[in-house]
Amino acid sequence: MIKLIDKLEATQSLSKEEWVELIDNRDKDSSEYLFEKARKIRHEIYENDVYIRGLIEFSNYCENDCFYCGIRRNNPYAQRYRLGKDEIMSCCKEGYELGFRTFVLQSGEDSYYTDDIMTEIISSIKEKYPDCAVTLSIGEKSKETYQKYFDAGADRYLLRHETACDVHYKKLHPPSLSLSNRKQCLFDLKEIGFQVGSGFMVGSPFQTSETLADDMLFLKELNPHMVGVGPFIPHHDTPFKGYPQGSVELTLFMIGLIRLMLPNALIPATTALGTLDTLGREKGIQAGANVVMPNLSPKDVRKKYLLYDNKICTGDEAAECRYCMQNRMKSIGYDVVVSRGDCKNINLRESLPDLKERK
Ligand code: 5AD
Ligand code: FES
Repeated sequence: MIKLIDKLEATQSLSKEEWVELIDNRDKDSSEYLFEKARKIRHEIYENDVYIRGLIEFSNYCENDCFYCGIRRNNPYAQRYRLGKDEIMSCCKEGYELGFRTFVLQSGEDSYYTDDIMTEIISSIKEKYPDCAVTLSIGEKSKETYQKYFDAGADRYLLRHETACDVHYKKLHPPSLSLSNRKQCLFDLKEIGFQVGSGFMVGSPFQTSETLADDMLFLKELNPHMVGVGPFIPHHDTPFKGYPQGSVELTLFMIGLIRLMLPNALIPATTALGTLDTLGREKGIQAGANVVMPNLSPKDVRKKYLLYDNKICTGDEAAECRYCMQNRMKSIGYDVVVSRGDCKNINLRESLPDLKERK
């Protein structure tokens, strides 16, 4: 396995068969070897810095019906809420004072927020906080709509592909959703000029090492700025309630692989990782991640934005999460920085001319 990890480091890609072999045969030693390399590359580009994003979950209404997700349309028990522009602006204000320079606006697919409403929210934030980045995570839209968001000032867009295997995609989603449309959205976003984030859950029902290999090949092709991976966690009011949760260990391994394949990527240590393991986010950083996304949503709505069971930080104030995160990162030797935290474009091959020679 060491050989394949070396090859991945040197060439930043593997074949499908090699991905499967590496994932299937991983063990403690190869994981440690991988994480060491992932940390080294991450340090060469991002040093000890950890970027923070203030996550504002502004609506849990969703017109989609993804089988894994707690805010799917067909969950009658979800208590729905929407935040208006003023409430979103006051989250940003609190966040700005806490040192956040990126706001991530996330919601279900909620057509209440028309293009006009969304662009008004985006431009108000950019006007008030011109030194901040606005990231959207609000699902599949037309290219025209994405263009309007971009023109209003949005900088980044998160849209996980969830799985790059067509058959698997159909097992996770209702027939109205398709992998081809999801991919189209991602390429549209890139073309428009967004910094784009994609990613997938680890351990989603019916996932195999072959589908994970497909995920890696697709990420290579998309070459996104950001990649979010977190373990699948069942939600008790969804069709996947009886399925086992994803493994923290495999999630960390995938983070390490992604760091080697896309050295410059912004990779969050996700809340889902922190939900399954008290030290999950710390371990994510130590496996090669460089971003954390503490919650900035108002305290009274947090418990309602439940994509999965037992989500952490739903009872904490924004400031608590902010400083908790800083302490957690400090405890493993990393610094939370006050910055937009854009993707750095450093060519490691140039700074490491000996890489190609390695086997
Ligand atoms: N467990 C873990 N992650 C989930 N997501 C949605 N539902 C779950 C779940 N049950 C992830 C999806 C989505 C992101 C916002 O949250 O990957 O893209
Ligand atoms: Fe939210 Fe620790 S990050 S309480």
